[in-house]
Amino acid sequence: MINPPSGPAEPFPFRQVTVFAPAKINLILRVLDRRADGYHNLWSIMHTVGLEDEIQIQPRHGDGEIHLNCDSADLADEHSNLVYRAAQAVLEQSSVRIGLDISLRKKIPMGAGLGGGSSDAAATIVGLNRLLHLGWSSRRMAEVGQRLGSDVPFFLFAPAAVVSGRGEAVHPIGMDGTQWAALVNPGFGVETSWAYRELATTRASVRPLTAAQSALPGRPRVAWQEVVSAAENDFEPPVFAKHPILQAIKRTLTEAGAQVALLSGSGATVFGLFSSENQAREAAAQFSGEKCFKTFVVSTCSAPLALQLSATGASPLG
Ligand code: C5P
Repeated sequence: MINPPSGPAEPFPFRQVTVFAPAKINLILRVLDRRADGYHNLWSIMHTVGLEDEIQIQPRHGDGEIHLNCDSADLADEHSNLVYRAAQAVLEQSSVRIGLDISLRKKIPMGAGLGGGSSDAAATIVGLNRLLHLGWSSRRMAEVGQRLGSDVPFFLFAPAAVVSGRGEAVHPIGMDGTQWAALVNPGFGVETSWAYRELATTRASVRPLTAAQSALPGRPRVAWQEVVSAAENDFEPPVFAKHPILQAIKRTLTEAGAQVALLSGSGATVFGLFSSENQAREAAAQFSGEKCFKTFVVSTCSAPLALQLSATGASPLG
């Protein structure tokens, strides 16, 4: 057990870590059978994209006390926030007796199918692993993370992976090069548990993976064209039925030349994939008249979660 520090950071050479938590898109999302634990087996190819929340963590005097400061009023309850819960889980599992000051700067819309909360949780675990010198492997961090949310393990193996089971079986893949995505968020959220229930009650049967989808994990590197031609999201029929505006967004992105336009996760964000930044910007501009919409033009990430350690602590939220 590590004892409480006599100064803010004495046992640790670094006084602060900053981790950038990227959003994800689901290039393919298949929802398979319902499991005995009430969750569904899924099969997905996920990729991180360059829209990032920022998490700063500083060690402080105190026995396990965590203070979380967030710039979004929607996340006012610090104790239910996934960052808080991730930090609490790491302190519990590592038996490090220390307090933490954490600040969270949100850019990823919430309830958006972009994995923002899960990415924040993964980034908190990665940041604490470095700050506190825990030496945990990605597998160990994913074990801690999976209890917080089904998408958390993926972010520990980013930028691209095939994800199956409840979300805990992550098989990283190499994608050839980067693409540009126009993310279009309509300004409202879709509740994930509702989407799973709705899908289960409206579909006639569970369709197995296509041959093209099953072949993807076996490749050492995957070409974008292979993923694009196998792209689909099982949540589209039930979510589009409730929110036809999302289908209209998909159509506009397709007409703007997207190689593929798809709902991400259970929505409500729809993304279009383009080979150039200009094309993605032109597609995003189609929505400039929609005042409630949030649009982002981002490239797909080519590296794992980025992290900066510093020997001096800046004040939380700058
Ligand atoms: O794990 P997470 O909190 O992201 O899941 C939210 C909800 O989505 C769960 O309560 C469950 O209803 C549903 N879910 C599921 N199968 C999964 C992941 C999530 O049924 N693999």
